[in-house]
Amino acid sequence: MDAALELTVSGIKRIAAVGPLAIPVLNLARSQVKSRLGYREIADSCLRRLRALIPDRKIIGRKVLLLGYGTLGSRLAAQLRDLGCRVDVVDTDLIALIDAAENGYATYRTAAQALAASTPFLIVGTTGEVALTDADLTALPDGVFLAPFATRDFSALTEGPHRPAATDIPGVGLRFTLPGGRTVIVLGDGRSMNLFEADSIPSQGYDAYRASTLIAAAALCADPDRVPAGLHTAPADTAITDAGLWDAYYDLYAAPGATGRPAAKPAGLTGERPQAVLRRAAIVGYGVAGRLHTEILTALGATPAVIDPKHQDLPASLRSFPHQVSDLPQAVAAGIDLWSICCPTAEHLPVLRAVLAPTRPPAS
Ligand SMILES: NC(=O)c1ccc[n+]([C@@H]2O[C@H](COP(=O)([O-])OP(=O)(O)OC[C@H]3O[C@@H](n4cnc5c(N)ncnc54)[C@H](O)[C@@H]3O)[C@@H](O)[C@H]2O)c1
Repeated sequence: MDAALELTVSGIKRIAAVGPLAIPVLNLARSQVKSRLGYREIADSCLRRLRALIPDRKIIGRKVLLLGYGTLGSRLAAQLRDLGCRVDVVDTDLIALIDAAENGYATYRTAAQALAASTPFLIVGTTGEVALTDADLTALPDGVFLAPFATRDFSALTEGPHRPAATDIPGVGLRFTLPGGRTVIVLGDGRSMNLFEADSIPSQGYDAYRASTLIAAAALCADPDRVPAGLHTAPADTAITDAGLWDAYYDLYAAPGATGRPAAKPAGLTGERPQAVLRRAAIVGYGVAGRLHTEILTALGATPAVIDPKHQDLPASLRSFPHQVSDLPQAVAAGIDLWSICCPTAEHLPVLRAVLAPTRPPAS
């Protein structure tokens, strides 16, 4: 592996934890495009998902406790306040907390202090850390909704001793009964709620980030030695600016007379280019994303090879394929033009290792 791109804040934390890096890693999670354009769309999608999961509940004017006033939390707090919610903020970082206070929010240093001072109907988690401790659970108001927009935030409930006895409320979340008979509902399944059952970030709203990822990847591939080993944001920002993304975005959405409809061929792509040929694609994991990718790749002319341990779910036409990447015959693996890894996140790296295993000839 020559280089990598990381797209998520939680991934950046994991990368930072491994110590010095031997390869360059571009930090798209903190790129200007994600911070300035992406997060606005993410915060909007968080609110949409929240309203979709509890459509029968009054939200306007009610008390909300927001844990984590960072890049996502500060935007979400403003959106909730615009809706008329009375938002209390907790952040362990004093600068963030002062920022929240000076934006007019009631602020507390800890969740325990906030819960002692008021009774929220909703607690929003955007910290990426353990935002509610076991001790905080004893102070939760009866019937409170917990909205996790980062997976770790309410892990004291979703990964703790209360989890086995939780009741699933299909399409809504998990109901926990706490000591004393109080019940609380974690919306979604504990992981980022705007990705629960569906991705609520509108694809058009995230296109600029996806395009930026592609631009940064192309810049890295063109010259992997240009960026030294370590985690970097600036080279990604520079490549994105140099590619003209900001100009194109402004002209598309913001300039006077902008239509929001892209030109048939974006400027710069009008010249003759060799067409990459996609003949054979491997889809690892045949769940929601895997099915979608299989459909799209087939429509693009690829013959899909689907690899999934739940063999019986595969359509008859695809059923002859093996369960594991390592089972795929060398001759088939060598001919794969594109691998699409659609299995659960925890399996991504083991699968990537199997795809890149030295015995396997490299795929283009
Ligand atoms: N659901 C999504 O689509 C989505 C999108 C982007 C980010 N995220 C996740 O949201 C989380 C936050 O992302 P961000 O970019 O806003 O990060 P950030 O670092 O800008 O913000 C996190 C904030 O939480 C605070 N914090 C940390 N521990 C806390 C605690 N125990 N109690 C209260 N506050 C605490 C930090 O001081 C910081 O201000 C990350 O885990 C990220 O992966 C989710």
